[in-house]
Amino acid sequence: MKGLFISFEGTDGSGKTSVIKEVERYLRLEGIDVVTTREPGGVSISEQVRNVIHDNNNTDMDAVCEALLYAAARRQHLVQKVVPLLKEGKVVLCDRYVDSSLAYQGYARGLGIDLVKGINDYATGGMYPDLTIYLDVRPEIGIQRIMTHTQTHEVNRMDNESIEFHKKTHEGYELLVKMFPERIKPVDGERTIKEVAIDAFKLIKEKINSVKNEQ
Ligand code: TYD
Repeated sequence: MKGLFISFEGTDGSGKTSVIKEVERYLRLEGIDVVTTREPGGVSISEQVRNVIHDNNNTDMDAVCEALLYAAARRQHLVQKVVPLLKEGKVVLCDRYVDSSLAYQGYARGLGIDLVKGINDYATGGMYPDLTIYLDVRPEIGIQRIMTHTQTHEVNRMDNESIEFHKKTHEGYELLVKMFPERIKPVDGERTIKEVAIDAFKLIKEKINSVKNEQ
């Protein structure tokens, strides 16, 4: 596989989606062949699974069921979309991947990071991104941003989680940064989108250059 797989992670309200758009623009300006995707990423089967998870009526969904469904949607998106793009040599920017499940289902829901990692290692065949950019935003700031955001955006089942849950997802990510320091690079997400995007862009450029040097 010749492409580069990069995931973006962060708690709700971390600004991932806006930052990714900006990073994609910078990469394009450098002539880099980049594609942005997110689970379910327009893959019909994954979208159907995702609709079940996010349905506001499914309040009685079991946590293990939730973790398995995320992993199932992830698998389909990976094999149907991400792997073919990587084979074409693209730089793939993915808005959330396995670490979301580890932080949300593994840590915040309390299933255990190891258990959820096991489910996801099976689902992905152990395929991890070459680089994961974690947008670090303190819970109090993230929550403030969500409050503003929900006035203009649709609210799904995961958005309705409590402030406590939000804090836990942040703790979960902090643990993951310590567990996978080689892969997960934190970026201070409490600045302007441009400032955050420039830092993320630099990390990606470094990764592209180090991969080139290895070849
Ligand atoms: P998403 O629709 O991608 O919104 P955003 O990334 O802009 O916050 O994600 C919705 C929610 O789904 C979000 O609260 C995180 C949660 N989620 C998990 O709990 N586990 C996962 O594996 C993924 C991919 C998302």
